[in-house]
Amino acid sequence: MQLLDGKLLSANIKKEIKIEVENALNKGLRRPKLAAVLVGHDPASQSYVRSKIKSCEQTGFDSDLISLDEDVTQEDLLQIIHRLNTDTLLDGYIVQLPLPAHINDEEIIRAVDPAKDVDGFHPFNMGKLSLGLETFIPATPYGILLMLERYNIKTKGKIAVVLGRSNIVGTPMALLLSRKAAYGNCTVIHTHSATIGLTNICKSADILIAAIGVPEFVKADMVKPGAIVIDVGINRVEDVNAKNGYRLVGDVDFEKVAPKCSFISPVPGGVGLMTVAALLLNTMKSYKQKHHF
Ligand SMILES: NC(=O)c1ccc[n+]([C@@H]2O[C@H](COP(=O)([O-])OP(=O)(O)OC[C@H]3O[C@@H](n4cnc5c(N)ncnc54)[C@H](OP(=O)(O)O)[C@@H]3O)[C@@H](O)[C@H]2O)c1
Repeated sequence: MQLLDGKLLSANIKKEIKIEVENALNKGLRRPKLAAVLVGHDPASQSYVRSKIKSCEQTGFDSDLISLDEDVTQEDLLQIIHRLNTDTLLDGYIVQLPLPAHINDEEIIRAVDPAKDVDGFHPFNMGKLSLGLETFIPATPYGILLMLERYNIKTKGKIAVVLGRSNIVGTPMALLLSRKAAYGNCTVIHTHSATIGLTNICKSADILIAAIGVPEFVKADMVKPGAIVIDVGINRVEDVNAKNGYRLVGDVDFEKVAPKCSFISPVPGGVGLMTVAALLLNTMKSYKQKHHF
């Protein structure tokens, strides 16, 4: 079994980005810039955004964190988005999800300028993705593609089972793996909570991607020997022995599943870090488009 080491890969990608930034600065260009909008005080969201901002610092990006109260109105949030859309020195921004229940998140996502939508969630960009056109690939599936690419895992002709159909992970992941492209060309089985016979379906997978948000859902008897297992889940489970009173686990029962796999990504230290690296790459892409290189 080989670990898909998101920590190592993301550090390498950040080093590569940093060199690109330094080259751009040497040409007299400004730094790339990413902004993050965080609404409320959800600890998980705060931790994700902190990691994104820290990664900007590590790669030489400028960044801006816009922290808003939980009770911000839809109108005020839309105004902030308008300001970000018209900021000519900003290459991209994210609105950290989930948003509070009183906010219409679909309207917020639609308000983001598709040219700055480095999370790739805007319907325009999702439409392009589903047509196989060049676009910002949503950061988590993009991070997974980078993982496959950097470990030189051939996907052509393989059976890929994707667990979960959210707009941000499962659905774009299934689309990407079925595309006629490098790190695509899989036969994809896309599953969700209404799927019947999940155990047998999972057992047929050469590549199994778990993105459902259920701690340690994927057990050893659901995995084919030699499968490639990619765990997207980030779940907090109570742990009285842990400093914070919780620990992070994925959607895969790592201890039992790992010995059966050819490759497996850990949680933490896997897809989460690749997501941040992919977000930086999307921001760099937007920056390059602006500066025509
Ligand atoms: N590593 C990262 O960077 C990253 C990024 C995003 C999310 N995540 C994590 O990934 C997980 C999934 O996130 P998400 O935003 O995609 O979640 P989500 O929006 O809650 O979607 C969960 C999906 O899983 C399906 N599902 C739930 N229980 C299931 C079951 N027992 N069997 C089969 N399918 C089931 C749901 O089916 P229905 O559609 O039928 O309800 C839904 O499609 C979470 O743990 C989240 O924290 C990690």
